[in-house]
Amino acid sequence: MGKLDGRIAVVTGGSSGIGAGTARHLRDEGAEVCVTDVSPPREDGGLMYLEHDVSSADAWLRVRDLVVSEFGRVDVLVNNAGIFLPGMIADISLEVWHRTLAVNQTGILLGMQTFAGALEESGRGSIVNMSSYAGMQGHGTSVAYQAAKWAVRGMTRFAAREFAPRGIRVNAVVPGFIDTPMMAAGGDALRDTVVRRTPLGRLGEVADIAYAIGYLAGDESAFVTGTEIVLDGGMLA
Ligand SMILES: NC(=O)c1ccc[n+]([C@@H]2O[C@H](COP(=O)([O-])OP(=O)(O)OC[C@H]3O[C@@H](n4cnc5c(N)ncnc54)[C@H](O)[C@@H]3O)[C@@H](O)[C@H]2O)c1
Repeated sequence: MGKLDGRIAVVTGGSSGIGAGTARHLRDEGAEVCVTDVSPPREDGGLMYLEHDVSSADAWLRVRDLVVSEFGRVDVLVNNAGIFLPGMIADISLEVWHRTLAVNQTGILLGMQTFAGALEESGRGSIVNMSSYAGMQGHGTSVAYQAAKWAVRGMTRFAAREFAPRGIRVNAVVPGFIDTPMMAAGGDALRDTVVRRTPLGRLGEVADIAYAIGYLAGDESAFVTGTEIVLDGGMLA
């Protein structure tokens, strides 16, 4: 018996990195999983895939309708999709600012808005939103990424209060530095610095985050809403 037997889950940005690992883990725990992404999966995990830009309200409606018609219901929404575009306040272009917020922040608003009805009907709906270490402190190289990841934590708390009467729980995960293509783009120097600054002495693995999302998706976290789980190897400590 898996912890998520019979659940229907949607994972955005599920073609790569944390999203792909989360989709695999939810599947291994018994869920039917639909992966959505702007790009097709890097590996064929045998999961349903829908092309989807999370910054488009119309695309969200199409995804919801296809998932509900395929599976009949939705129990779990993992708002994982995200982009990292560098930019300091001194020189960030408005194009980079708006695109980052459109994907990393508005995408999460649209997901929660579009799927709230279906998650309410499930009776055990759970939303997990992707924040970041960058949403907990003031260090980094992208003011837009940082602004969006802080906003995700605020929206998560707001949504938890708004949706509690509808039986939907809403939480966030806060990864530190995780070994994914997004992290690899920072190069070896970033990796070495991070490992030095992390008390547990390593980068996070995709599975470290996937397990927390699996916990928040299922019944073991039935009394958990409006909060976040930090998975950073002790960096914030
Ligand atoms: N890797 C880390 O160290 C780290 C740390 C903290 C938070 N995060 C967050 O975790 C999430 C996943 O990151 P990752 O490291 O796995 O990165 P990744 O680049 O490996 O995966 C991100 C996925 O999102 C998809 N995506 C991008 N724009 C999209 C859009 N508009 N609509 C739908 N899908 C889109 C990409 O195609 C990709 O498959 C992101 O929200 C990221 O900000 C990552």
